[in-house]
Amino acid sequence: MSAKVGILGAGFIGRIHATCLRRDPRVTLVGVADVVPAAARRLADEAGVPAMDGLEALIDAGAQAVFVCTPNARHVEPVLAALEAGLHVFSEKPMATSLDGARQIRDAAARARGAYQIGFNRRFSNVYRFARQRIEEGRITPRLAQMKHNRGELVQPPWTGDPAVTGGYLYETPVHLFDMGRYLFGEVVAVAGAARQSVYRELDGFVMLFTFASGVVASVTSVAHTSWFFPYERVEIYGDHCTVVTEELERAWFAPGMREQVEAIDCFHMTFEEKWGYLAEDRLFIDTVLGERPPAVTAEDGYRATELVEATYRAARTGQPVALPLGG
Ligand SMILES: NC(=O)c1ccc[n+]([C@@H]2O[C@H](COP(=O)([O-])OP(=O)(O)OC[C@H]3O[C@@H](n4cnc5c(N)ncnc54)[C@H](O)[C@@H]3O)[C@@H](O)[C@H]2O)c1
Repeated sequence: MSAKVGILGAGFIGRIHATCLRRDPRVTLVGVADVVPAAARRLADEAGVPAMDGLEALIDAGAQAVFVCTPNARHVEPVLAALEAGLHVFSEKPMATSLDGARQIRDAAARARGAYQIGFNRRFSNVYRFARQRIEEGRITPRLAQMKHNRGELVQPPWTGDPAVTGGYLYETPVHLFDMGRYLFGEVVAVAGAARQSVYRELDGFVMLFTFASGVVASVTSVAHTSWFFPYERVEIYGDHCTVVTEELERAWFAPGMREQVEAIDCFHMTFEEKWGYLAEDRLFIDTVLGERPPAVTAEDGYRATELVEATYRAARTGQPVALPLGG
């Protein structure tokens, strides 16, 4: 069986998904659409498919599913339109740049014929799977954690420096870390901390504390102006005389006990698409399109990550702890 898929947004991530989809024999790409004709043409030519100007054209070309790869604040409109038209939707992160937008998508996805999956690719990377597996097997029971996810700059692509398009820095890279917190430790029940505006036109540095329903407390640091100094992404999970550490999407370690050998993985030689989880998330989405499984990352996951971003902004701006779930 073949899945007819279109790509909306022919930039950096649109190209990555096109690469992954072309490696899946079950996929027929029906077209690549972008508001900038030259961008659509470039990627469409690479993929050997027609270039188009928008969602309607992809639907007319027979798309059953669409990858929404437009900038952050431009996800809600095409996602709602595609769900309304009965398509399956893979949306890049973030789900939306407001709680209201996320709620609209969550509600639409619950009613829709098609499925919705959100692009939290890190869930499918080997390093975070390594961590989660050790938790699931009971080899470590997390008590505390330290989570860091910095960005070198808000310069590339240029819209990342415009909060009107990103929704705010936290909707950029940090939203991945927030989802990772939920993936590893469950729901967050309280957020506290402080933020600074140091370099850009918005709050661009956060030092927060997340408390999870499981009892885990995690420090969560994210700064937007660090330079791309490695490791800009690092998670440490502490248990009973045992520790898991992940570094970028490259390496992970598990120290199981006081005098035991450390287990390690090194993903250096893997392809980028595989290492970062893109290949797996796209394959799973195609499974869903073909009716073989429910979405691997759900609309509820997208909504909860949005809620966590909004709670973090609220806590940072007021200086007061914020309890979750948010009402209203
Ligand atoms: N999951 C990840 O690891 C990851 C990595 C990078 C980007 N992203 C997300 O993917 C999205 C795109 O990021 P990018 O880096 O590819 O940006 P980009 O600027 O490289 O590409 C975005 C493309 O969308 C096009 N576009 C803008 N508005 C459009 C519209 N209304 N209809 C059709 N096309 C439109 C632009 O012309 C551009 O070609 C963002 O939401 C970003 O947060 C996710």
